Amino acid sequence: MKKRYRAVALALLLTMTVGMTAGCGASSSENAKKIIRIGHNQSTNHPTHIALLAFEEFIEEELGDKYDVEVFPSELLGSQNEMVQLTQTGAIDFCVASNSLLETFSDNYTLFNLPYLFASSEAYHVAMDDENITGPIFESTKQAGFEAVTWLDAGTRNFYTVDTAIETPDDLKGMKIRVQQSPTNVEMMDRLGGSATPMGFGDVYTSLQSKIIDGAENNELALTDNGHGDVCKYYSYDMHQMIPDILIGSNTFVDGLDSEERAVFEEGFELVNQVQREEWVDAVAEAKERAENEQGVTFLYPDTEPFREICLPMHDSMLEKYPDLEPIYEAIQAYNEEYPSEE
Ligand code: GCU
Repeated sequence: MKKRYRAVALALLLTMTVGMTAGCGASSSENAKKIIRIGHNQSTNHPTHIALLAFEEFIEEELGDKYDVEVFPSELLGSQNEMVQLTQTGAIDFCVASNSLLETFSDNYTLFNLPYLFASSEAYHVAMDDENITGPIFESTKQAGFEAVTWLDAGTRNFYTVDTAIETPDDLKGMKIRVQQSPTNVEMMDRLGGSATPMGFGDVYTSLQSKIIDGAENNELALTDNGHGDVCKYYSYDMHQMIPDILIGSNTFVDGLDSEERAVFEEGFELVNQVQREEWVDAVAEAKERAENEQGVTFLYPDTEPFREICLPMHDSMLEKYPDLEPIYEAIQAYNEEYPSEE
């Protein structure tokens, strides 16, 4: 609750300052720099933060006379949902949001949230790098007030619990598992037999600790960076989703850039993607090492097939509901054939 008040207060403050900066720029001071505010929900060690700092440096090097970039980590500007809304209204300029949340802003994003959509990390990466695949999806939130400008790796999502080894879907029965706030994630959890408990990322640690939930699902960094491995002792590689994070920019800001500035920003977005992906591989290896050796987390490698079989009907039901997404879905399947699972 406290956090919510903080975000609302901040939203008001930001709306006022944005208004004032715009006013100053137009009339009194030609030299006033526009502050670009970027929010995300990860720690300052996280690859996403490191990549956004590289963006800050690049933009200030190239366009420092006009722009001052400020990166706000750790939900300082609110939860991811709140940050998306702030970006929508132009109160902040950019934020990083999980693709999961974006499906409530445009149905098209549902596609990347499907469990077992990508056969391997290679298939996931080439598909996300293919503009024929991402373009129609990324553009679809323009009418909601923001644009997806690049994607970030968020690895593979797997189940982890306080004290139960998840070896088969049956082990999830009756367990309260935190999922991200999206209809696809709730459906996936229901199908797998667990009880889906949607909540924001920042609330997961306390909920685990106070036993409101029995477990959660995420990539390995949540164990170390967010301390979930202090409470959860079993991490099970069922490999259910590879959900990208998306850097979104407010229409209010990106539509105001002239073509030369836009070209510089495009380079900056590309840099965010490259730096984040380079940092990602080592960050995951380090997190795994620390979780195992310092937090005492046991990593399990169950047969993923029973989990996959239960979730696969979600693909057909999504295609029935959103037939326009079929060509993109098929293009992803072609990459899956080219880069099959190594299991
Ligand atoms: C990952 C992802 C975040 C997301 C979080 C979550 O950490 O990178 O964008 O918010 O999972 O589970 O909510």
